[in-house]
Amino acid sequence: MGRIIIVSNRLPITIGRKEGELIYHPSAGGLATGLNSLESDKERIWIGWPGRAVDDEGERKLITQQFKKDGMVPVFLSLQELEDYYEGFSNKTIWPHFHYFTQYTRYNEQYWDSYVSVNEKFAAIIAEVVEEDDLVWVHDYQLMLVPGLLRKRFPGLSIGFFLHIPFPSYELFRTLPWRRQLLEGVLGADQIGFHTFGYMRHFLSASYRILGYEHDFGKINIAGRAVSVDAFPMGIDYDKYAHPIHPENENEEVQFIKDYSQRRRIIISIDRLDYSKGIPERIRAYESFLKKYPDYARDVSLVLVVVPSRAGVDQYQTLKEEIDTLVGRINGEYGTFDWVPIRYYYRSFSFDSLCTLYRCAAIALITPLRDGMNLVAKEFVASKEDNPIGVLILSEMAGAASELQEALIINPNDNAEIVAALVQALDMPVEEQTTRLREMQRKLKRYNVKHWANNFIHQQMETKRIQEDRQTKVLSDSTRKQLLLDYQQAKSRLLLLDYDGTLVGFHPVPEQASPDPGLIASIQKLNAHKNTSVVIISGRDRYTLGSWFGDVGIEMVSEHGAWIWKKGEWQLNSNVVANWKSTVKPILENLVERTPGSFIEEKDYTLAWHYRRIDNELGANRVREIRDELIYLTANHNLQVLEGNKVVEVRNAGVDKGKAAGLWLNRQEWDFIMAIGDDHTDEDTFNAMPEHAYTIKVGLNKTAAKYKVRSVEEARELIDQIAAS
Ligand code: UDP
Ligand code: G6P
Repeated sequence: MGRIIIVSNRLPITIGRKEGELIYHPSAGGLATGLNSLESDKERIWIGWPGRAVDDEGERKLITQQFKKDGMVPVFLSLQELEDYYEGFSNKTIWPHFHYFTQYTRYNEQYWDSYVSVNEKFAAIIAEVVEEDDLVWVHDYQLMLVPGLLRKRFPGLSIGFFLHIPFPSYELFRTLPWRRQLLEGVLGADQIGFHTFGYMRHFLSASYRILGYEHDFGKINIAGRAVSVDAFPMGIDYDKYAHPIHPENENEEVQFIKDYSQRRRIIISIDRLDYSKGIPERIRAYESFLKKYPDYARDVSLVLVVVPSRAGVDQYQTLKEEIDTLVGRINGEYGTFDWVPIRYYYRSFSFDSLCTLYRCAAIALITPLRDGMNLVAKEFVASKEDNPIGVLILSEMAGAASELQEALIINPNDNAEIVAALVQALDMPVEEQTTRLREMQRKLKRYNVKHWANNFIHQQMETKRIQEDRQTKVLSDSTRKQLLLDYQQAKSRLLLLDYDGTLVGFHPVPEQASPDPGLIASIQKLNAHKNTSVVIISGRDRYTLGSWFGDVGIEMVSEHGAWIWKKGEWQLNSNVVANWKSTVKPILENLVERTPGSFIEEKDYTLAWHYRRIDNELGANRVREIRDELIYLTANHNLQVLEGNKVVEVRNAGVDKGKAAGLWLNRQEWDFIMAIGDDHTDEDTFNAMPEHAYTIKVGLNKTAAKYKVRSVEEARELIDQIAAS
């Protein structure tokens, strides 16, 4: 692996201006603070926006040079782009929508166009920097199209994507007009990560319902490319907060916080100014607490830190006014000469002050209405390493709540519950505070930000390895040439061809997957070759196969071997019986009644329940339900229950395609054999073949076949080539 290229909207350093001069300071927000503390033995390049519009070419050059020293590449955005892409589509469309604030979602084409073009701009800059063996890791909702755009330019590039905010439920996501493009963009990545299992589940459900991609334990197959989706809860740089390095001389603010915490029990509330953080709701709950428990109240003070953010978005301005008014009113109403109920700061704090606040606080009151993760909660817990006294009150709507279960977990909309939690926290025995903190610290120490990033990158590399592995058996041009040559030179040839999923694609209604004239023509051509036996070896019923291929003059196997078509008539395999069907059929009929869209296919010696047209989760549940019942029922009969591609079949045991293929193998020696098929019933055929046979799987999944072709189209191309040879 080469370098790691991190791509995010915001760089960890923001540029500002002081008296006309450029200044550089650290960025706020979970993504920048979390990722920036990441060390790696690999060279790291970080591509992103430096936090301010810069028009002057000279200044751009200067900034670029300055950033280059620290391995950063700035992406400059114009004022218009900031308005439409950043404040617009990113923060007035995706942000509110994904945080369940759909009343704020703006549907604006101009915003969308800008989002597309800025994502293209990012992709173009990455393209200039990236080398083939680099690992690219794209972050967050502002850049959801970048993985897809990169994939088009670099089909083999290792691309990861991590979403730092919640992924909403399908029902909400589907209402976005640009839902398809956003999903397709993200799915350009090989590895996709979310903070929680819940967000991951929502993403997989949206990918299936909107784009039709099914997944298998989080693995999606997109045109042969394996994509892995998983939950990776982001950690913090634990030691940085547990053992902060303070400057020799304490500044005044740090000293003041320390002194103040001796006089009052500090409750901290620290967030960016954001409606998703539930700040007014929190202040109101604190007010209810003051009202209901005046005796406790004078003993505490709420230190409310609100970090300015996204000032150009209207809702943030309104929110600021609401907070100002609330704080003013409460302080006016409850405050005394020697006590201010809420100490309110609308600015960011230095690292020293922030750490001191964390260390000195009795309670951290963190009650977002929705939050992807919430790192402040984790930083508070880590800061209590030396003196494990303090209580975390945490919203169940924050991603962090899945891990920090020893916190007092509350519903942020439940005012009374927050008040009760405050009282419980203030009354909590010190030993209990320590026990809870220690347990949370144990987890945070282990699953720190380094662990998080290494885990993600490791899995991204593993996904690449699986992709490469899946490609290993793909039929190469040289093997294809050799196959054609062997075919031409052979004196006797046997071709065993599966039908559905091999010669034709799947269709919602099986009868409609009839052979097209091109296929019939190719098969006729093959059959006309001298000393060549063409056998369609299928699970289909004999009537359908007969009507399609009865006149073509080839041989056929139907129902996986229950019937053999020889010299113009069907011959029955003597081992099969049908007396069990009357017992099994009512069970399947009952299933169909309860599962609209599914249906039964009845063959002479097989009953098949098809569920291609129903929701896949419902399908999976039904299969689980029916499997046990059928296995129990069929135990005393010589039957087997088989799960195929969206179908469950009950059929006679001891009948399979491999045994059927044996009839041809035993008939004579063949110079050339080719068996081709797509699903696990064809694996029986592959396993029955002699060493010199060409066995070919259609699709890239695991197989006993020697070779793979990626799709029905490729399978057909091969068959056409053989027919034309
Ligand atoms: N933070 C900061 N300056 C401050 C207050 C907070 O840099 O004055 C940092 C804080 O340490 C945390 C981040 O901002 O790492 C906030 O991340 P969080 O996940 O809690 O929320 P987000 O801002 O990502 O929504
Ligand atoms: C959240 C987002 C980040 C973003 C940060 C600060 O943490 O997930 O992508 O950088 O907020 O927001 P801002 O708009 O200032 O970058």
